[in-house]
Amino acid sequence: MGRAKKAVLAYSGGVDTSVCIPYLKQEWGVEEVITFAADLGQGDELEPIRQKALDSGASQSIVGDLIEPFITEFAFPAIRANALYEGRYPLSTALARPLIARRLVEVAREVGADAVAHGCTGKGNDQVRFDVAIGSLAPDLKVLAPAREWGMSREETIAYGERCGIPAPVSKKSPYSIDLNLLGRSIEAGSLEDPDVEPPEEIYALTRSVEAAPDTPQIVEIGFARGNPVSLDGVALDPVSLVRRANQLAGLHGFGRLDMVENRVVGIKSREIYETPGLLLLIRAHQELESLTLAADVQRTKRQLEMQWADLVYQGLWYGPLKEALDGFLDCTQKSVNGTVRVKLHKGNATVIGRRSSSDSLYVPDMATYGAEDRFDHKAAEGFIYVWGLPTRLWAASRRGC
Ligand code: ARG
Repeated sequence: MGRAKKAVLAYSGGVDTSVCIPYLKQEWGVEEVITFAADLGQGDELEPIRQKALDSGASQSIVGDLIEPFITEFAFPAIRANALYEGRYPLSTALARPLIARRLVEVAREVGADAVAHGCTGKGNDQVRFDVAIGSLAPDLKVLAPAREWGMSREETIAYGERCGIPAPVSKKSPYSIDLNLLGRSIEAGSLEDPDVEPPEEIYALTRSVEAAPDTPQIVEIGFARGNPVSLDGVALDPVSLVRRANQLAGLHGFGRLDMVENRVVGIKSREIYETPGLLLLIRAHQELESLTLAADVQRTKRQLEMQWADLVYQGLWYGPLKEALDGFLDCTQKSVNGTVRVKLHKGNATVIGRRSSSDSLYVPDMATYGAEDRFDHKAAEGFIYVWGLPTRLWAASRRGC
């Protein structure tokens, strides 16, 4: 791989990505580094970040608002897929990577770069997601990952930065590694590396503790159209506002924290803390509406494919063929996922208390009722059970030797 001339670097404003700028130029001979910082609703002020990249030696510093596509093209498909990695993690970090990669490639085209770069280390999932996405979107672009190769400790990285005029972090740096966007926060490292140690309350920012949550429950009604959340408490909201509001409501009531040991793509187990209040609330409600509106066999098949969808997103295969094929199935199922779900938020719980669909409910009251309106043909059950149980009876009889 020859030297890159012009690289577009995914930039967060932190020490590591800042040090990537002089490092790429001095150690790897890259002539020009252009930074791209994505706004994914993390709430950071972006102007200081834009300026910091220039101060660190970037020739151009670009900031891009990706919030809307993040929610509509990445979060909403994940809600429709009820995507939970290993049954729990709603992929808040993983979903952002293919979008950032896509935008990095676009910026690289716009500025005529021959490489893209990121600051991921060599043992995380994010490097896998970036490299695979970029490699499939733009096989001609080089992917540079200096932090995977430089072998510097945190102190050495800071010292390298200081020599290049990048100020050391002012406050005593928190021991945690945090990733943040509108879908949630992930917190790793520090004392959390011992999976047997309870996470300290100070690590949380989007959710209240169960103790501090209000004593009074709150009921929220979530409306869905074709599997997408479209309203809260009867008020139609655009996708971004809806997710923000769902985060506030669920977070206030202490719902949405996860403490798990997960299996990374690179083969290790890691202890992860997440707070993803809105996303988990919306997935919970969406699952419930599907139980009312999907046929039994479609629902069962979908449950299995959802797991595969979550796995492939986690594993960085967003732009792969299985994703496209599964989306065909998932999208088809969502045509009938229209209706509303009522959820009671209280002290860390989100309990579904009602669901309805005027257009697509498969719940037939006079079939389900035990009351006088019952239309179900009870006598027909006998013949059904005779045939249904036949193989079992024949097998049992043969074991008895008759
Ligand atoms: N383990 C999570 C994932 O792979 C989150 C990693 C986020 N990175 C971080 N520095 N906290 O999606």
